[in-house]
Amino acid sequence: NYYAIIMAGGIGSRFWPISRTSHPKQFIDILGTGKTLIQNTYERFLKVCPKENIYVVTNENYTHLVKSQLPDMADNQILTEPVMRNTAPCIAYGCFKIESLNPDAAIVVAPSDHLILDEPAFITSIEKSLQAVAGHDYLITLGIKPSRPDTGYGYIQYTDQTIKNDFHKVKTFTEKPNLEIAKTFLQSGDFLWNAGIFVWSAKAIVKAFSQYLPDMNEIFVEARAFYNGENEKKHIHTAYQQCTNISIDYGIMEKADNVYVLPSEFGWSDLGTWASIYDLADKDYVGNAVIPAEKVIMYDSSNCMVNVPGEKLVILQGLHDYIVVESNNSLLICPRDQEQNIKQVVADVKQKFGTK
Ligand code: GDD
Ligand code: MG
Repeated sequence: NYYAIIMAGGIGSRFWPISRTSHPKQFIDILGTGKTLIQNTYERFLKVCPKENIYVVTNENYTHLVKSQLPDMADNQILTEPVMRNTAPCIAYGCFKIESLNPDAAIVVAPSDHLILDEPAFITSIEKSLQAVAGHDYLITLGIKPSRPDTGYGYIQYTDQTIKNDFHKVKTFTEKPNLEIAKTFLQSGDFLWNAGIFVWSAKAIVKAFSQYLPDMNEIFVEARAFYNGENEKKHIHTAYQQCTNISIDYGIMEKADNVYVLPSEFGWSDLGTWASIYDLADKDYVGNAVIPAEKVIMYDSSNCMVNVPGEKLVILQGLHDYIVVESNNSLLICPRDQEQNIKQVVADVKQKFGTK
């Protein structure tokens, strides 16, 4: 009864120019390990449930990437979205689908673009959670101990009240707070980062949609009648046109009162920034991280993050604390501590040149 849904339809704009609309981060081997992030994600879930029970939800522009990177996956397990509407519709599509096939399903929903270093610990957390949700209406999320007041995450304030000893009742869930609030959360000590990995029974999440996103619930209840038949695609197309653009975090997790968190530690990173890649990458003795390392020569340079795939010879002279990234005919050179501006860069590039 265990199922997995891999969400793979986002764009990952902070990683421009490596990650871009036509080729988002989940389809990239961003750490140079020989496998893309979605391939790693899929292989992790193969250890949790049978391969017939793993679904990917992605945008129709990326279906070909999913098929080529996960050739083992049957076509009917790749759920295609006609437009991008954030994670709530993505989760509704996948979970209503699984619920229509198996009402007793327990489902883990996870992003496709994260790094998990301690795989056994991850699998233990997921299995424990899948066991816990069977027959209950708990909405479980995995929580990570925060190390900085990052404003790109959801924050979970938890209580001492537990179920099965491990799952703490969530007091508040705050998606992407501003810096000031994030700082107070960090100081208070009873907050965790939301890892964006959710576990629930099919019934519980369907019920949560009906309670907290009733319009979306209606749309997918209607579409569900056509699931697994010839007209599924047509009806999903119509359904998505009607959906509001909202994440599961704002749409359900912030509002629900049956949310539980499992404090977890499994070498997690959402690889959200070049800084996070830099932190994880192998570095030389002066702090330079170079992926891939073939053709880069450095003189008097330190603490740089260089990612220039291909044949180009790269020479750095006297450069410190910079990101140097080339991809798809675009070159980005940016001080490491100013990368938060990249999102704006992407927007500007789109406006000026009509492309990302
Ligand atoms: N199919 C589909 N369709 N997938 C999507 C869509 C969509 O429209 N939008 C996003 N995704 C996928 C992304 O590819 C990613 O794998 C996952 O859903 C999460 O979306 P992000 O856009 O990366 O969310 P986030 O990083 O801003 O925030 C979420 O993750 C954080 C942890 O990394 C939230 O859950 C936060 O609370 C959490 O802290
Ligand atoms: Mg993310």
